[in-house]
Amino acid sequence: MAEIGFDNRVAIVTGAGGGLGRCHALELARRGARVVVNDLGVAKDGGGSSLSPAQQVVAEIEALGGEAVTDGHSVATPEGGAAIVQAAIDAFGRIDIVVNNAGILRDKTFAKMEPADVDAVFDVHLKGAFNVTRPAWICMREQNYGRIVMTASNAGILGNFGQTNYGTAKMGLVGMTNVLAVEGAKYNIRVNAIAPVAATRMTDGLMGDLTSAIDPALVSPVVAYLASEACEVTGEVYSCAGGTVARFFVGLTQGIYDRGLTAEAVRDRLAEIRDETGYDAFADNKGEIKKLARILGG
Ligand code: NAI
Repeated sequence: MAEIGFDNRVAIVTGAGGGLGRCHALELARRGARVVVNDLGVAKDGGGSSLSPAQQVVAEIEALGGEAVTDGHSVATPEGGAAIVQAAIDAFGRIDIVVNNAGILRDKTFAKMEPADVDAVFDVHLKGAFNVTRPAWICMREQNYGRIVMTASNAGILGNFGQTNYGTAKMGLVGMTNVLAVEGAKYNIRVNAIAPVAATRMTDGLMGDLTSAIDPALVSPVVAYLASEACEVTGEVYSCAGGTVARFFVGLTQGIYDRGLTAEAVRDRLAEIRDETGYDAFADNKGEIKKLARILGG
């Protein structure tokens, strides 16, 4: 089969000045995409700003013979999102791919977490993906083609201590992925998410012995596939770490059906309710409604 390439495709990678985003931008550019390297150049907690990380990545891409432009807008506002998409249109005339990758951390235990910690993290991760994706979506619908990759996290899918704000935002992106996949289907817009594990400044000192094995560059092939015309899936979440690739999915157990349901019945039949044997995994909401109609009649 042919190699996956991105000739005539234009990609935005947010937060591409370092870590995972840099690797994604390099991988897409190496395969022929013209790339908007967006990065606000902030510290891990979102403080400060600098254009130089994004400029360095653009220089790296150019040194490899690729095409890229720098963008220093923040994903955290609708104006920033619109400007990032406009940068792609201005430089390259179109937009085919959005990789929502920009991120910050404000970890605290729940009791200590302030509303400002929630706002900052939601603004970058959750609203950031909305702010950049929506103006791109308008173009993608018109051209009947688009690929969107969200960056979710195990912190939300599985839970992680001290990350209520971050885990909630990241799981919110799974919801956004699912809904956009449904809405994008008829426009040939595919929307998927990754849940990466990688050695970057974000995980500095946290991964112990795993650190040397979880090269962020080993996440980028998954992003490149999901961003490509060859991508056949939509509304899915892929776990990627150090060369491992697997799919997360939501399963619904067979459960019980009892028209005289009581709290005691729930207590007494909990094992049956929770039993994973023969679970269902639905492609979208309609799947579950159909199942309910089958059980309940209607
Ligand atoms: P990183 O800190 O190296 O990269 C994040 C980049 O986003 C930074 O370059 C930063 O300047 C940029 N950024 C932050 N706020 C921005 C804003 N408002 N507008 C534009 N750019 C902004 O961290 P890493 O690890 O590369 O993270 C990339 C993504 O992967 C994040 O969304 C993170 O939450 C996610 N992730 C990373 C994991 C890991 O193991 N490293 C695990 C799960 C998710």
